[in-house]
Amino acid sequence: MALRVDNITAGYGKITVLRNLSLEVREGEILGLLGRNGMGKTTLIRCLAGLIRPTAGNITFEDRQITELPPHERAQIGITTVVQGRGVFPGLTVRENLEMGRIASRRTKRSRIDEVVSYFPRLGERMRQSAGTLSGGEQQMLAIGRGLMTDPTMMLLDEPSDGIMPMLVQQNAKILKEINHREGMTMIIVEQNVPMVFSLTDHCVILEKGQVVTEGTRDEVSRSEVMKAYLAI
Ligand SMILES: Nc1ncnc2c1ncn2[C@@H]1O[C@H](COP(=O)(O)OP(=O)(O)OP(=O)(O)O)[C@@H](O)[C@H]1O
Ligand SMILES: [Mg+2]
Repeated sequence: MALRVDNITAGYGKITVLRNLSLEVREGEILGLLGRNGMGKTTLIRCLAGLIRPTAGNITFEDRQITELPPHERAQIGITTVVQGRGVFPGLTVRENLEMGRIASRRTKRSRIDEVVSYFPRLGERMRQSAGTLSGGEQQMLAIGRGLMTDPTMMLLDEPSDGIMPMLVQQNAKILKEINHREGMTMIIVEQNVPMVFSLTDHCVILEKGQVVTEGTRDEVSRSEVMKAYLAI
C-alpha cells in the first residue's frame, strides 16, 4: 500500500472537520476524492501534506509512519502537493518556480525541466515569463510541473481543474494520466468535476461531513445514492 490513513480526526482549533476518516491508496493508483463544498477534502490534503496535524489516528506512507512528519520532510520522502488555487510564486519566473520544486525536495540533483516541458510544452515557451502573468491554466500547469520537479512518488492534487476552461481540463487530465502511467506515480486527486475524475480513475471515494460515505469503483460510486444526491445539486 502506498498510503494508509487510519481513523484520523483533524480540524482547526475547536472545529473538527475530519472524523475517524480511513482510506487506502495502492502504489501507482489514482484515487479520486469527491465531495461537495466544505466537506473536508482540502483539510484531508492538508493532513497528508503535513500542514495540519491530526488530533487522532495515523498516516502511513510506504510503510513508514508520517503522522508527525513536517511538510518539508514529506517532500523529501516523495510526497508533493499541488494546492488548491495553484500556489505558484508570482514574482518568480517559470524556470525559477520549477527550480524551487527541485530545491525544496532535495531528492535529486538531476533537473527534470526537460520532462516537465515534454508534458507541458507551453511552459517551455515561457521559461522567462514571471509566473504571476501566466493565465490561470498555465499557472496550473506550472504548479503540476513544480510538483514533478520534486521527483515524487505520490502527488496530491487539490482541484486542478478549478477555473480552467473545459477543453484544457480534459487536456490536463490526459497529461496527468500520462504522468501516472509513465512514472507509475500514485495520485490523489480532489475534484468537483466528476467526468474528469471518471476519465482518470476507477477508484473513487466521496467525502461527506469529514467522513468517507461511499468508496468503490467508478460504476459502484456512480450508482450510489450519495452520488445521485451529489449530482443533483
Ligand atoms: N483555516 C481554517 N480555519 C477554520 N475552519 C476552516 C479552515 N479551513 C477550512 N475550514 C472549515 O473546514 C471545513 C472543511 O473545509 P475544506 O476546505 O476542507 O472543504 P473542501 O471539501 O475542500 O471544500 P471546497 O470544495 O469548497 O474546496 C469547512 O467548513 C471550512 O469552513
Ligand atoms: Mg477544497
